[in-house]
Amino acid sequence: MLVGKRILLIIGGGIAAYKALDLIRRLQDRGARVRAILTRAGTEFVTPLSVGSLTGDKVFQELFSLTDENDMGHIELSRDADLLVVAPATADLMAKMANGHANDLASTALLATDKRVLLAPAMNVRMWLNPATQRNLVTLRADGVAVVGPNDGSMACGEFGPGRMAEVPEIIAAIEALINGSAAGRPLTGRHVVVTSGPTREAIDPVRYISNHSSGKQGHAIARAAAAAGAAVTLVTGPVALPDPAGVTTVHVESARQMLAAVEAALPADIAVFAAAVADWRVAEIAGGKIKKGAGGPPTLAFVENPDILATIARRTAGRPGLVVGFAAETDDVLGNARAKLTRKGCDLIVANDVAAGTGTFGGDSNLVHIVTSDGLETWERQSKDAVAEALVSLLARRITAS
Ligand code: C5P
Repeated sequence: MLVGKRILLIIGGGIAAYKALDLIRRLQDRGARVRAILTRAGTEFVTPLSVGSLTGDKVFQELFSLTDENDMGHIELSRDADLLVVAPATADLMAKMANGHANDLASTALLATDKRVLLAPAMNVRMWLNPATQRNLVTLRADGVAVVGPNDGSMACGEFGPGRMAEVPEIIAAIEALINGSAAGRPLTGRHVVVTSGPTREAIDPVRYISNHSSGKQGHAIARAAAAAGAAVTLVTGPVALPDPAGVTTVHVESARQMLAAVEAALPADIAVFAAAVADWRVAEIAGGKIKKGAGGPPTLAFVENPDILATIARRTAGRPGLVVGFAAETDDVLGNARAKLTRKGCDLIVANDVAAGTGTFGGDSNLVHIVTSDGLETWERQSKDAVAEALVSLLARRITAS
């Protein structure tokens, strides 16, 4: 709930601006008071009248407006809030924020604030993936700006990919986590959390490898959430197309054996979360030179089993982390396999998810998980991987504090 909380909502110019209207309503349902700044581009998509009718307040639009400044100056506007939310956050607004521009009311309020800021980006997929936007995102995250979404999906412009604004319930969940999370303090302060993420790559010869489709999104989100909860975090990641999370020590590895060595080097830890999709096998002998096509036909590859990083760490007698968490990505009998895995690997908790074709979990932005422990089972509703990460981290924080 957000009873009595003051949200300053900045509505940028994008087709997703219509969702900001629903967001206002849903925030009010939870007891929040919402004030809105509408950018000039935003007025192309929603009108000041509709925004103002919902907030029941003046809609702030101009930086140099005598009446606005008399009512409430821009500095006061951004300080008189518990949280600033930018939805939709356009590429332009993100660029301005990352570079400290202040040439309109929205960017000035964002620069002048001493409060936390949450962005819900929405833009064309090419604009989102453009290195300039990704650079700005890294800068903003390093500056402590929180980000929800964007999600994959089909876009108003007819393209498909990341760029759709997060749905209203996801934005609300992120707002509640920021407001209530900071009120509850940082429960993992003083703790060390090790997280594995992404796929591993097992070389066949100097130019070829076997790997899998893991994107690393869930593992990276867990590392970010643990850091936000105050932990010192070591993230050991296989090759992924994601930026290193701000405030996290990130170790890049390729193979399963390198991943195990990096995890062991990172210990001791209070909590270890093994979210990586580690290749089960590697080729018995990596060829020294590129294997050539030839008269002998295609090569036969012999495989040997990789070390099980999770089981190795969970079964340590000395220096076992207080809480060891594994993942179970299954395509059938998700719960049966997860329960068996809990005992077989000796871990304390398994996050089980269904990665069967059509679930959209592998590489996607949302996840439906079951939390399996020796004393029970919880099933969480489908939610963004960021929301799963935050819920998992608060569960782990409660468990480690109770132990
Ligand atoms: O046995 P399976 O691969 O399904 O187990 C998945 C869990 O075990 C995940 O938490 C994964 O990170 C971990 N794992 C590991 N090392 C392996 C294989 C899996 O840490 N070689």
